[in-house]
Amino acid sequence: MLVTLLLLVGVSSTLALDNGLALTPPMGWLTWERFRCITDCKKYPNECISEDLIKRTADIMVSEGYLDAGYEYLGIDDCWLEKKRGPDGRMVPDKERFPSGMKALADYIHSKGLKFGMYEDYGNLTCAGYPGVLGNERLDIETFVEWEIDYLKLDGCYIQPENMDAGYPAFGQMLNDTGRSILYSCSWPAYQEDAKMLPDYASIAQHCNMWRNWDDIEDSWASMTKIMNWFGDNQDRLAKHAGPGHWNDPDMLLIGNFGLTIDQARVQMAVWSILAAPLLMSVDLATIRPEFKEILLNKDIIAVNQDPLGKQGLRVWKKTERGARSRLEVWRRELQGDALALAFVSQRDDGIPYAANFTSSEMNVQDGLYEVHDLYKDEGVRHWNSEEDFEVRINPSGVKFYKLIRKPSADVVVKSKTDSDSAMSEAVVYTMLNKS
Ligand code: GLA
Repeated sequence: MLVTLLLLVGVSSTLALDNGLALTPPMGWLTWERFRCITDCKKYPNECISEDLIKRTADIMVSEGYLDAGYEYLGIDDCWLEKKRGPDGRMVPDKERFPSGMKALADYIHSKGLKFGMYEDYGNLTCAGYPGVLGNERLDIETFVEWEIDYLKLDGCYIQPENMDAGYPAFGQMLNDTGRSILYSCSWPAYQEDAKMLPDYASIAQHCNMWRNWDDIEDSWASMTKIMNWFGDNQDRLAKHAGPGHWNDPDMLLIGNFGLTIDQARVQMAVWSILAAPLLMSVDLATIRPEFKEILLNKDIIAVNQDPLGKQGLRVWKKTERGARSRLEVWRRELQGDALALAFVSQRDDGIPYAANFTSSEMNVQDGLYEVHDLYKDEGVRHWNSEEDFEVRINPSGVKFYKLIRKPSADVVVKSKTDSDSAMSEAVVYTMLNKS
């Protein structure tokens, strides 16, 4: 009996995270990028990390269509704790900024149909210097379960990256064992990449629902493109580990804040969707301008991000040297139903929109006839035959983002289009199509 029990314990400690969550990339809102560690509510009442900010955001997520669009997690990042644990050793939320306590806040969030996200750190301290979980793992997980959280971002400051390969899975196992479904967001590889270690992504994907791979995003085009370039440069070792239940995370959306233009915001939404990245807004939803809100709520683009195949897309073409198509890139993601998403990104900043042509092999697109939908709806629906070049015209630091749907009768129609006697060939095609 004892042997069986020990065996069972042994087996369960090597089991993967099994919470059935994040079958598509998680979507929601998180405090950090926009609100950082603002704790002075007297000076900054609308911006400090507090229950007021979270409740106000919850209200807007529901009333203005964000929840309906799929943004369901509402998360507090760092700076929610008192600097000292309570006499019972438990984490204590800041008493002035969270006077009602976390359970009451969770109830409020749940009453709106949203899910509650929280932040902690695997080390002694969080990155901003509040108490971390190290040494109190079980008690903290118990507390989180009492508060009924649905999502936990576990950061990795103040702990050796070498200890993460065992530590993060062990913590995930404890979360699993509680029986509450808590989405597990790990910062494990970000710290290992930073320490120039090669993270074991196979293990990470087995034990986490999502994981921060690399640098923190900052509110600028420079930061965003640096992250985007890093994901493109490292895609061969990253992309294969993404799939239903487990995702690479290039960090939060900057859309609607201070640093990105509308065109640049469109780039982030497009590339993050190609990357099957979690879509975590971090913006003041009370003051966001409508043109940015429209980008965040673009249903066709969200559908690309949430595509059920769950295949992370790749940067399939890029040119950095000078010349006609310099600093343009093509990003491609396979979608269910014989469809593709293609993002043509320009990192140029020299004035006019540039026109460029791409062949089907440059875009890694299978031969055929396609229906082309502009996902930002600047252009109407058109048809494209893969024997022709695909023409795009892209704004500086902008994007053209299309969904291509392959048409079944492609072969026949393609032949007719290349025939000089079009009347004749159209008649032939018509007959052939009707026969088939
Ligand atoms: C780290 C993380 C950020 C944020 C801060 C909070 O830098 O990578 O996303 O959580 O800590 O202090």
